[in-house]
Amino acid sequence: MDKPSGQTDLQEQLRKLQEKYAVMGQDLSSYLDGLLYSDYLTYWDYIHLDTLLSLQNPKTSFPDERVFITYHQITELYFSLILWELKQITENPEPSEKFFIDRLDRIVRYFRHLEDSFDVMVIGMEKEQFLKFRMALLPASGFQSAQYRLIELHSTDLVNLVTPAVRSSVDHNNMDEQLDKLYWRSGATELLSGKKTLTLQQFERKYNDEFKQVALKHKSNNLRSIYQKYFSGNENIIKRLREFDTLANVLWPLAHMRSAGHYLHKDPEDIRATGGTNWQKYLPPRYQKIMFFPELWTEEEKLQWGSAAFKKAMQS
Ligand code: HEM
Repeated sequence: MDKPSGQTDLQEQLRKLQEKYAVMGQDLSSYLDGLLYSDYLTYWDYIHLDTLLSLQNPKTSFPDERVFITYHQITELYFSLILWELKQITENPEPSEKFFIDRLDRIVRYFRHLEDSFDVMVIGMEKEQFLKFRMALLPASGFQSAQYRLIELHSTDLVNLVTPAVRSSVDHNNMDEQLDKLYWRSGATELLSGKKTLTLQQFERKYNDEFKQVALKHKSNNLRSIYQKYFSGNENIIKRLREFDTLANVLWPLAHMRSAGHYLHKDPEDIRATGGTNWQKYLPPRYQKIMFFPELWTEEEKLQWGSAAFKKAMQS
């Protein structure tokens, strides 16, 4: 007599499980006992909700500081997703066009969310509160986001991250020199003395070694070099790389800068809320001129990089 198909499926599953555990010298029946006694998974345990909601610890009693801290955390989670995709791309020994495009689309999608949501910062907090609670957070700054720098190091060759004044003259074979002249080291300097701020000193002390290792690892294995090796000239991919470049190096930085402009620019006293840095000279994308894929832009587009005309052209 034929067995009901449900039973046959179950027997087949048990046989496969037995095989799987036997390979590791394990007794399936003990694991089945464990299954019998274990609880069902819940949503709150799976995503560690209690832990997640215990991580917002404002330093002051101003209610809007919670908005500030939570939105930074949300951004860091998106950064971690972007890095996750970049890692998958750089670790794939033979990326297909579909694999590459799918991951690029995800990266672009995440960055669009980040750009679009930045109003949470720009208009989502009371200025009076911000200027007060920000003073309790010195010298910490989003400038110290290591994931932001890691995204850059995974996306392009180190020389493209060198400060624009010396980008063409820096020794292309000297990684230490390039690391020393990364564009962001010229940010977070004190307006009055030109010295490195404590923000920058702390950041360098904590992450310099890691950045050097990552730069070495991705010297010829980053998004740009992979594009050049496998997909050079592919229009579908060029379109996406240009969008990623625009989002990461123009649109997100401009959205971010709007918040600095909104909270910090009017009263000279406000500048204290950054620890007295040169951010007006440093943050604008038209000064930084960071492009992950410079070969994908015309001379005209490079000249206009970060300007209002460039932004309009990219968004139309
Ligand atoms: C009201 C909100 C914000 C203001 C007023 C602000 C202000 C600034 C300023 C003035 C700088 C220049 C460095 C310094 O002087 O400390 C900076 C850098 C930076 N901030 Fe923010 N920020 C805000 C929100 C955020 C958020 C939510 C993030 C997300 C992680 C972030 C990430 C960064 C990064 C990555 C840099 C370095 C940018 C670069 O090197 O080009 N900021 N921010």
